[in-house]
Amino acid sequence: MLTNLKSKLPYTSLSIFSVMSALANEHRAINLSQGFPDFPVDPVLVNLVDKYMKLGYNQYAPMPGILELREIVSDFIFRQSSYRYDPKTEITITHGATQAIATAISSTIREGDEVIIFTPAYDCYAPLVELNGGTPIYVQLKHPDYSINWDAFKVQLNHRTRMVILNTPHNPSGTVISKNDLQQLQDLLQGSDILILADEVYEQIVFDENSHHSVSSFPNLASRSFKVGSFGKTLHATGWKLGYCAAPELLMSEFRKIHQYQVFSVNTPMQYAIAEYISNEAHLDIAKGYEHKRNVFLESIAQSGFKPLASQGTYFQLLDYSAISQKHEVDFAEELTIQHGVAAIPISVFYHIPQENKVLRFCFAKGEETLQKAGRLLSSVS
Ligand SMILES: Cc1ncc(COP(=O)(O)O)c(C=O)c1O
Repeated sequence: MLTNLKSKLPYTSLSIFSVMSALANEHRAINLSQGFPDFPVDPVLVNLVDKYMKLGYNQYAPMPGILELREIVSDFIFRQSSYRYDPKTEITITHGATQAIATAISSTIREGDEVIIFTPAYDCYAPLVELNGGTPIYVQLKHPDYSINWDAFKVQLNHRTRMVILNTPHNPSGTVISKNDLQQLQDLLQGSDILILADEVYEQIVFDENSHHSVSSFPNLASRSFKVGSFGKTLHATGWKLGYCAAPELLMSEFRKIHQYQVFSVNTPMQYAIAEYISNEAHLDIAKGYEHKRNVFLESIAQSGFKPLASQGTYFQLLDYSAISQKHEVDFAEELTIQHGVAAIPISVFYHIPQENKVLRFCFAKGEETLQKAGRLLSSVS
């Protein structure tokens, strides 16, 4: 018997996504909790994977990824932000954005380093900081617009601050960072050695008059940043777990030292298929489709007691239920699943210390019929 096994993450339990999905299955509820599309990947892309497998592209890819794909990522970022990453030395293809985030953190964070995380936050940042001996420092986004409180941020900066983690478009809130925010960040970090980890996995999914502003569009931010993207999000193929990291050579060479031992390289035929597929720029044009889905969902709940908060990007919509119930978010999310047949995620779980704002997150990356059915069920809740 093992008697001395000490967990490295003693406070980590089953994630809320697994819990809510299991509850949704058990009660046959419509699952708008976990963030993944329920529609198929473009058959053109699937056929390309098939083609490259049959052509025999089935052995290890080069450690940083195939050059063709890195070149296309470099071009794509250049179109987005006018900043040019060298595909040879500054871009690496990863096993999803999650690995890029893990590798960026483990290649730079050491015992005693502080890492600023804005909350509510995607769930993997803090445990990865802790695994590397760092200390997460939490700065709360302002409810209900989830904007950044730069005064609260400034207070947390000190000689131990090693990294700031930014996520835009933001999961779970669906908000996007403004140019003014990035300018403020640039001014506040000027003269310091503080790094940025920019999680931009929803960079292609921005709605209405909003735009995605990347750290790479500010040269003095790009020079200290790891920018992370996800083909899983962009190609509606979350199960393929492919993404990228772009960073200046100094940072990228440290990133690759870790990447080569964590994964060495990632899926070869899929890299070739994605490179060919996204060389057609139209295949990256996914925002309008998601904007339409968001609108279908919003229309379907227009007569309900739920009040939508602004969703400027991602495939998430927050709904405020304070006019319906005063229950805690976790309890209300369970009630909604069990009694009304729709599963969502309570926002309170994305905080270090749970905040109760009576807000749930719904994923609208689903077929129109599913969204309309969910809307009808939500409209009957009172
Ligand atoms: C904000 C954010 N970052 C990272 C990821 C992980 O991306 P991937 O599936 O490519 O690892 C997700 C997935 O939901 C996400 O929402």
